[in-house]
Amino acid sequence: MRSFFLLGALTLAASTAAAQGADGKALYEQHCRKCHGATGKPSDGIKKMNPKIETFDAAFFAKRTDADLIKGIGEGKGKMKPFNEKLKPDEMAAVAKYIRTLKP
Ligand code: HEC
Repeated sequence: MRSFFLLGALTLAASTAAAQGADGKALYEQHCRKCHGATGKPSDGIKKMNPKIETFDAAFFAKRTDADLIKGIGEGKGKMKPFNEKLKPDEMAAVAKYIRTLKP
């Protein structure tokens, strides 16, 4: 199951690069920024309501592969709703790629 998912994510990454499709930054601004902040650092208000929310910094990414990120975004976690129905697989891959470029 896990290796199947990894394979899917790799195929996805390849097809995304080929298609130059989804705009990760635009998707982040539209769907994620209100909770995760413009630079990947949640506001104090959001942190108060969601103590488990983390800043998207090097320590955060050290614990997660791209496949983990895409899985987390797709399935949701705690107070974060799943994005499986809202975003296409290439869009989730693009937004996962984008959050790695943030400088919180
Ligand atoms: C309603 C607020 C909200 C929105 C909107 C939201 N998130 Fe989250 N997100 C959270 C919270 C809260 C957590 C921590 C969940 C927990 O650990 O219980 C989280 C966790 C995460 C994680 C970590 C999952 C893990 O592996 O632990 C990632 C990655 C993430 N969000 C990415 C995104 C992306 C990308 C978007 C936009 C497509 C998004 N989030 C939209 C609130 C939100």
